Amino acid sequence: MIKINQAYKTFNRGDVNEVRALRGLNLNIDEGEFVTVIGSNGAGKSTMLNLLAGVFAPDIGEIWIGDRNVTRWPEHQRAKLISRVFQDPLKGTAGSMTIEENMAMARLRGQRRGFGWGVTQAGRKQFRQELTQLGLGLEDRLTSKVSLLSGGQRQALTLIMATLVKPRILLLDEHTAALDPGMAQQISSLTARLVRDHNLTALMVTHNMQQALSMGSRTLMMHKGEIILDLQGEERARLTVNDLVQKFASIRKDALDDELLLS
Ligand SMILES: Nc1ncnc2c1ncn2[C@@H]1O[C@H](COP(=O)(O)OP(=O)(O)OP(=O)(O)O)[C@@H](O)[C@H]1O
Ligand SMILES: [Mg+2]
Repeated sequence: MIKINQAYKTFNRGDVNEVRALRGLNLNIDEGEFVTVIGSNGAGKSTMLNLLAGVFAPDIGEIWIGDRNVTRWPEHQRAKLISRVFQDPLKGTAGSMTIEENMAMARLRGQRRGFGWGVTQAGRKQFRQELTQLGLGLEDRLTSKVSLLSGGQRQALTLIMATLVKPRILLLDEHTAALDPGMAQQISSLTARLVRDHNLTALMVTHNMQQALSMGSRTLMMHKGEIILDLQGEERARLTVNDLVQKFASIRKDALDDELLLS
């Protein structure tokens, strides 16, 4: 359903700051797959998500969603198919607007401009139902400004908004990393439930090895702009968090050795 063919992306080409962020990335993801993505800082995880969302195009390579070649589609056009949630809870919602206004806007994702986004009685009823499932009491605060919510509450709202109009793909970039452990756990459970209930195809970047193995059905490890491990099925099921941490550490060690050799 998602296909990335031989994607290369270099930032600041020819400059001292040149970074080869993606180096011939290949990836195939089936409809309904929930994939977790790990890898050290700078491995290219966010760049891969940005490429899928259309923030920029690859220098070389193609991106397919279903049977459409979307490589040159701009971000706003892909928004019909893709929802994103970021690490920063402030990014997914507008703080100066109320909860119901934010949700009314989210209901228009991917539509042309010109449609009104006023809050209707029917809309309000749907929003209340969606929020009740969270168990955070937000259904009674529809007219509160979102800036008054905690980071976790705001991230829960962002997730509900991201799936209010069912996307074909949900991209999560360390979306629980800024939350306290309890809230991170709640947001993880909510994520798992939303992906399952809406049968979404999802990619979730995380630095939490436990989360990487326990959520979804497949785990990718990225390193230097490539996918160097693709764990699924039996192999993944047998892997413990400790095994994964060790794999991660050995790759980092190899990278450090390479750097020492080069210097
Ligand atoms: N817009 C950009 N302009 C210039 N360089 C960029 C840009 N986006 C990413 N990079 C660089 O590309 C490399 C890969 O970055 P990316 O954000 O994909 O890493 P990541 O795997 O998401 O890391 P982290 O775990 O720290 O979030 C990094 O060296 C980063 O500095
Ligand atoms: Mg990142």
